[in-house]
Amino acid sequence: MSISPHAVILVLYISTIILSDATTITQEKAAVQREKERILVKCEQDGTDQQMYWYRQVHQNSLELIFFSQMDGLDTEKLLVGDRFSATRENRQRFLLNITNLQPEDSAMYFCSSSFHSAQK
Ligand SMILES: *[C@@H]1O[C@H](CO)[C@@H](O)[C@H](O)[C@H]1NC(C)=O
Repeated sequence: MSISPHAVILVLYISTIILSDATTITQEKAAVQREKERILVKCEQDGTDQQMYWYRQVHQNSLELIFFSQMDGLDTEKLLVGDRFSATRENRQRFLLNITNLQPEDSAMYFCSSSFHSAQK
């Protein structure tokens, strides 16, 4: 990949989370994108968890919940992020994060998680 000297490189670190109840979450590990590009990040769980979550951590700040899916087939709830962000619950296992027109401030760690019962009370 050739990168123009004027390009802004974004790094989105994505990790694999193994949950205590033996559900394994699979995500891509890292992605480097240029400004204005888009990214589609797949999160997949091998269990039957109803709730799925996308979190973001900017610098050393705390984790922020940015998307919450109650169940496949239902609308996804968005928090804290704007129009360039969307998430799609493709089916029970897959929750896709879609960011368009990437901006330098989107550089962060993005975590996906799932749970059988709602963690939102
Ligand atoms: C990602 O979001 C953009 C903007 O809303 C949309 O046009 C595009 O179809 C989405 N891509 C996927 C794979 O959902």
